[in-house]
Amino acid sequence: MGRKSFYITTPIYYPSDKLHIGHTYCTVATDAMARYKRMQGYDVMFLTGTDEHGQKIQQKAEAAGVTPQQYVDHIVDGIKDLWKLMNISNDRFIRTTDDYHVESIKKIFRKLYEQGDIYKGSYKGKYCTPCESFWTESQLVDGKCPDCGREVVDAEEEAYFFRLSKYADRLVAYYEAHPNFLEPPSRLNEMVNNFIKPGLEDLCVSRTSFDWGVQVDFDAKHVVYVWIDALSNYITALGYGNEKYHDFEKYWPAQVHFVGKEIVRFHSIIWPAMLMALDLPLPGQVYGHGWLKFDGDKMSKSKGNVVDPVVLVNRYGVDALRYFLLREFPFGSDGNFTNEALISRINADLANDLGNLLSRTVAMVGKYFGGQLPAEQKSDPMDNALLTMAKELRGKYEEQMEKYAFQNALIEVFKVISRANKYIDETAPWVLAKEEENKPRLAAVLYNLLECLRITSSLLTPFMPDTAEKSRVQIGASEEEFTWEKAAQFGVLPKDTAVQKGDALFPRIDMEKELAQLAQTSGTPAQEEKEEPVAPPITIDEFSKVEMTVCKVLACENVPKSEKLLKFQLDDGSGQTRQILSGIAKYYKPEELVGKTVVACTNLPPRKMMGQLSNGMLLSAEKDGQLNLVMLEDKVPAGAKLC
Ligand code: ME8
Ligand code: MG
Repeated sequence: MGRKSFYITTPIYYPSDKLHIGHTYCTVATDAMARYKRMQGYDVMFLTGTDEHGQKIQQKAEAAGVTPQQYVDHIVDGIKDLWKLMNISNDRFIRTTDDYHVESIKKIFRKLYEQGDIYKGSYKGKYCTPCESFWTESQLVDGKCPDCGREVVDAEEEAYFFRLSKYADRLVAYYEAHPNFLEPPSRLNEMVNNFIKPGLEDLCVSRTSFDWGVQVDFDAKHVVYVWIDALSNYITALGYGNEKYHDFEKYWPAQVHFVGKEIVRFHSIIWPAMLMALDLPLPGQVYGHGWLKFDGDKMSKSKGNVVDPVVLVNRYGVDALRYFLLREFPFGSDGNFTNEALISRINADLANDLGNLLSRTVAMVGKYFGGQLPAEQKSDPMDNALLTMAKELRGKYEEQMEKYAFQNALIEVFKVISRANKYIDETAPWVLAKEEENKPRLAAVLYNLLECLRITSSLLTPFMPDTAEKSRVQIGASEEEFTWEKAAQFGVLPKDTAVQKGDALFPRIDMEKELAQLAQTSGTPAQEEKEEPVAPPITIDEFSKVEMTVCKVLACENVPKSEKLLKFQLDDGSGQTRQILSGIAKYYKPEELVGKTVVACTNLPPRKMMGQLSNGMLLSAEKDGQLNLVMLEDKVPAGAKLC
């Protein structure tokens, strides 16, 4: 009999040159789950990868003056490096530009066409280019993309359609028969009420307006819609429709797809319908996790409020960040990232509770017994409370992990760690150490502490693999004593076990100093800054150094809690969206500026206002309290320099 398999996936990421901790969050959670299942003895397949086709990538590559393939290759290398840095243990990495995937997509599309689930028609609708999403008029929010709030454009093209409407009833029946299919449950109601009940429309699944995608092999003008291409990765990566891999039978259906809440719609409606059409079993679950926010906004690159995982890992270590992400926020809900919360967690849980328990225990075994406990030990009924908690921990932890309640699982582990610290105070080993006759009792106390450390540290392995390993070495446990099976037993270490003193796991951080230093790094926006941009004084000589760039306003909105500031997303011709904050909210309504051609000074250093990044300054003209934004004729292209 083979081992039971467990297949878990992250979304495949868009190649963006800077992944932030929001992206890291999902991958770390998936990694913790994969490691946990491996520990339990499952044959795990953990898949992640990159979603590399689509108009947006093609445009970015054009702007950068490289081919789309060159563009994505470079970025994907960086993404792989980030996963290495984060100690991600994925078993496979799929790129949608991989030949075998492309081959499978062609086959899937052809099969669906030949059996009538895909047909040719013509599409008229609203298209959000950044999201690669077509929307119906009724789905728009204030005329804008309901996902990202940006402008949509009218689009019409000859296109292939997937008969999604045909699957509406089967989907609803499936949800009813499988109430845990979509978690948390609130997300299911949203899907049924917002998308299925109003009537599922057939889905446009091909594009002719660009060519960076998988070509439809029987109609070369068309490329396959990027979501059909992307969602299929979960099966092509196992060898469905290709000869690269051969473990589809073994791993499909996946136990769970972890996805961010904004892409639940694709995973709980389109993906199951595609699988139904392909006559394949559906995944066990789709789990829609919450967003990490910064100052209440979804962290996203175009908004500039991005926290850089590399900066944080370099300062605090990968395990501190991994722990923080999964301990601080309930997985299903949104969470607000702050530097204070991160540092408090490291100090309170990792340096104090866990770090102290380990260093005190190991130090006492060294001090009182030269590093090795005597086998003669004396137990006491007062130990029972701690022992019971330690023995019951694995069951409680498992119950939470099975629900993907990482936060609760960690809380259970740290309850035992805190209890063990309290046990040190109750038993006062330093008092016992004074009398030779109390040595057997002292040895039992230290043994119990080592056992608590063994159990808790082994259960922390999925979250903090390096830390758990360091702890294992310090308490002198073998790998066999550090397993899932042994985590449910007390008394596993030999009585005369020996310890190995090591470095402190997590040095305490000076909060005030650290916050001040963090505010100066590019990783995190400063918390408090002046509201108004102040142009640095320049002389006439310096004038020629000022770079002034023509920009198109892509989006504009008020900054929450600010009466002065408007936040602009600008096309500055570079291919990257530029965010600028400007103190002109009194003079303009945000919506009247969208589409305008404006001028920005683009070589000022980036600055932060109201916690948000402003990358440049918009030019306005002011007289007698009258202010006008400088606007040019629309024929002037984005990226043109004023000279
Ligand atoms: O959506 N907090 O890719 P993506 C939490 N290619 N999660 C966040 C986040 C934040 N601030 N920002 C992003 C895609 N994410 C598609 C997926 S799957 C077949 C195709 C999460 O790079 C986001 O919710 O935009 C998503 O789950 C993942 O990062 C990848 O986002
Ligand atoms: Mg996204």
